[in-house]
Amino acid sequence: MSNIEALKKEIVETVQAANDMQALETVRVQALGKKGKVTDLMKSLGQMDPEQRREMGQALNRLKDEITGEIETRAAALKRKELDERLQTEKLDMTLSPRPEQQGSIHPISQTTEEMITIFAEMGFTVAEGPEIEDDFHNFTALNFPPEHPARQMHDTFYLPDAPDSEGEAATRLLRTHTSTVQIHVMQNQKPPIRIIVPGRTFRSDYDMTHTPMFHQMEGLVIDKTSHMGHLKHCLTVFCRKYFGVEELPVRFRPSFFPFTEPSAEMDIGCAVNNGKLEIGGGNKWMEILGCGMVHPNVLKNCGIDPEEYQGFAFGMGIERVAMLKYGIPDLRTFFESDIRWLRHYGFGPSDQPNTALRAE
Ligand code: PHE
Repeated sequence: MSNIEALKKEIVETVQAANDMQALETVRVQALGKKGKVTDLMKSLGQMDPEQRREMGQALNRLKDEITGEIETRAAALKRKELDERLQTEKLDMTLSPRPEQQGSIHPISQTTEEMITIFAEMGFTVAEGPEIEDDFHNFTALNFPPEHPARQMHDTFYLPDAPDSEGEAATRLLRTHTSTVQIHVMQNQKPPIRIIVPGRTFRSDYDMTHTPMFHQMEGLVIDKTSHMGHLKHCLTVFCRKYFGVEELPVRFRPSFFPFTEPSAEMDIGCAVNNGKLEIGGGNKWMEILGCGMVHPNVLKNCGIDPEEYQGFAFGMGIERVAMLKYGIPDLRTFFESDIRWLRHYGFGPSDQPNTALRAE
């Protein structure tokens, strides 16, 4: 009996001396494992007479329970100690401010696009998209540009090497010169009524203060049985007044020409120049802002829509252009120079909401 007490003392001491979980596991195996000291004693029970075996068996079971209990207590203590040590070494000061150079800003193009989408969404438009690499049909032919028409040259198109089309014929590929291409995709695939806007990249080979080879447009298309020029004028007037935040913003529509609309118009907004600074609103000057018109019957026909039954209007405007006017950005090229000081100055914070509140003149 006394050697059981001695064994218990010995094992408990080693349990308490174990300084980490691994050492504790070694102790456990040495005591209770297959070849452990307690297990060895258990094996010797077979040679004892029944009386002794009963007594010894009970004592050994108690010993096993006690040692198991000791090991569990020690394990809990060691885990607590490990956690405390980690908490000490892995300190993180949540009150430190982030490094200033890690702050980004939202590009004026993104902000402006969001503002425009917000206003048109209120009027029931949904956003559509289309490919930037196009064929001649979607960029010109379907939009009623006759072959050899000078308007094709006016677009300063970037052409890509010809690639075989689905029939294996060499087909012209180009970078879309306007988002009007998406009018065609949508009308080919969707039944009227249609009410979409299309924000997206467009490309023309041109470069100066007001032209860059890549720029953004926002297209609009409404097709149903009843929409007319009055709806077009109202829709765009409401848009401009909300976008610029000027309730009584003067607007006018001048006759113009686009192959894909008839009649066509350009829309101007009223502005003034005070001390060399442009002010949107009252004043005696007009600023061109977008192109628009009633969708030409040939365009509807080219997309399989019956012009006797359906009609509608379309418009298109440069996103950079309206951003420049609203936020007083003088040079288009700066949008794409990735100058960190420019981005800091003209960029927006992540929590800036699209500004669509009306401001009285
Ligand atoms: N696609 C024309 C442009 O790029 C704009 C436009 C769109 C005009 C829709 C009328 C209707 O200049």
